[in-house]
Amino acid sequence: MNKWRCNVCGYIHEGDKPPAECPICGVGPEDFVVVKELAAEQQLAVKRWKCTVCDYVHTGDTPPDSCPLCGVGSELFVLLLDEAVKLTREAVAEAGPETANSALDKISYGLYIVTSIKDNTINGQCCNTVFQVTSNPLRVSICLNKNNLTHEYVVASGVFAVSMLGSDQTDAVRRFGYQSGRNVDKFAGIEYIFGKNGCPILKDCLAYIEAKVLPDKTVDIGTHTLFIADVTSGRMVANAEALTYSLYRRSKR
Ligand SMILES: Cc1cc2nc3c(=O)[nH]c(=O)nc-3n(C[C@H](O)[C@H](O)[C@H](O)COP(=O)(O)O)c2cc1C
Ligand SMILES: [Zn+2]
Ligand SMILES: [Zn+2]
Repeated sequence: MNKWRCNVCGYIHEGDKPPAECPICGVGPEDFVVVKELAAEQQLAVKRWKCTVCDYVHTGDTPPDSCPLCGVGSELFVLLLDEAVKLTREAVAEAGPETANSALDKISYGLYIVTSIKDNTINGQCCNTVFQVTSNPLRVSICLNKNNLTHEYVVASGVFAVSMLGSDQTDAVRRFGYQSGRNVDKFAGIEYIFGKNGCPILKDCLAYIEAKVLPDKTVDIGTHTLFIADVTSGRMVANAEALTYSLYRRSKR
């Protein structure tokens, strides 16, 4: 028996063959690879390609023909240059946007499930762009792609909730981050409870907050909208280690 890892979402399948379809993100057997435990140096030797539209990172010698998340072609992928350089005047002179992509990859993020409501229906998505922006008043920002159903719900209701994930909750990232609520009910089989503002909160979160969007402070930034919101409520649920983007990436290798 082998272990097969989905190259797109990181789902692990056990069996002699890869599954006909990934149960999480829907790709076929060609996107599954046999899991080999790579040494740390080998992991660093694997090329990483970043989609410039949705930030999906693909590992392999070449970029994928099309982005499994947003569908754009291989020409919109950039190679992340992980090569480290000594910081000299020449190194600074040679640097440009291509090298900046790898630098930006060093920004650390947490991973969260942002949920919202519209006309008594609920939806949620995985989101790394959640930050506390001020303490007095308590305010956070989130940045959502205009194509996402969650974006539509946040615009419609003006409220959202953020469920913070624990370091072992990578399956929630797969469930909420690689499929749209337009095609599936992401809450089927998930335990949740409604917050005061009506948005669902994952029962096994580490902590959660509820927030109310400040429309006059919301910014259209092209592909995405940056929402600034007042934190109206929130609570610690379990005091454990939080999931970060880098922990999640490591779980996918
Ligand atoms: C690790 C990870 C982080 C993500 N971060 C964001 C984000 O910060 N903003 C965003 O708009 N989408 C982000 N996404 C993509 C959405 O979660 C994804 O497009 C989702 O399918 C949208 O679902 P919806 O259409 O049901 O709202 C992220 C996905 C993953 C896997
Ligand atoms: Zn998958
Ligand atoms: Zn993409």
